[in-house]
Amino acid sequence: MELNEVLKERRSTREFSNQKVNKEDLYQLLDAARLAPSAGNRQPWLFVVLEGNLKNQVAGIMEEHIKNAQITLDGEKNATHAYNPISSVKKSIQIIKEAPVLILVLRKFSEDWKEGDYLSIGCAIENISLRATDLKLGSLIIRDVVYTRDKIATYIGYENMELVTGLAVGYSIEYPYERFKKKIEDIVVCKE
Ligand SMILES: Cc1cc2nc3c(=O)[nH]c(=O)nc-3n(C[C@H](O)[C@H](O)[C@H](O)COP(=O)(O)O)c2cc1C
Repeated sequence: MELNEVLKERRSTREFSNQKVNKEDLYQLLDAARLAPSAGNRQPWLFVVLEGNLKNQVAGIMEEHIKNAQITLDGEKNATHAYNPISSVKKSIQIIKEAPVLILVLRKFSEDWKEGDYLSIGCAIENISLRATDLKLGSLIIRDVVYTRDKIATYIGYENMELVTGLAVGYSIEYPYERFKKKIEDIVVCKE
């Protein structure tokens, strides 16, 4: 696909079939991540690819956590009309169970590089999302894993790293509508 077509076609997918992603496509996604730019060329990321029972265990950890949660989750503001963390986590749990692949993105701890490292990881996960679109795969960035980041990192054997995000990947059984995007004149200021 042309790059511009990929940019326009990419959507966050929340309905996945259980069809497995073949190894070559998975390799292509991770190779796209590898090529991303990073602050200081630190490449501060580790991608842990989970399938089957290991993936479902991550959903289980999240499920256990919200059983005990009240209206809000630690570190989040009160639920609002626009964003309710508990219902978002519930939906994310369902998506993680349905999608055949969950990629967890971890970061080496370093106070000095915090902001740059997060931006770098953003670049890498966008590369994955775009390459997924190119390969006719659906994807969803799932930040909701952060509420249980320590438990999940320990579960997968990386308690010395910070879990930054998850990314569900698989074949989409929907073609999501194009989400609202602000107009260019509302987000750009040109000055001379
Ligand atoms: C950093 C980041 C975190 C996100 N976390 C979640 C999430 O936890 N759950 C979810 O359903 N969607 C999540 N999304 C997807 C956004 O909701 C989605 O990108 C947005 O609504 C725009 O839709 P689009 O991706 O189809 O353009 C996340 C997106 C980004 C960039």
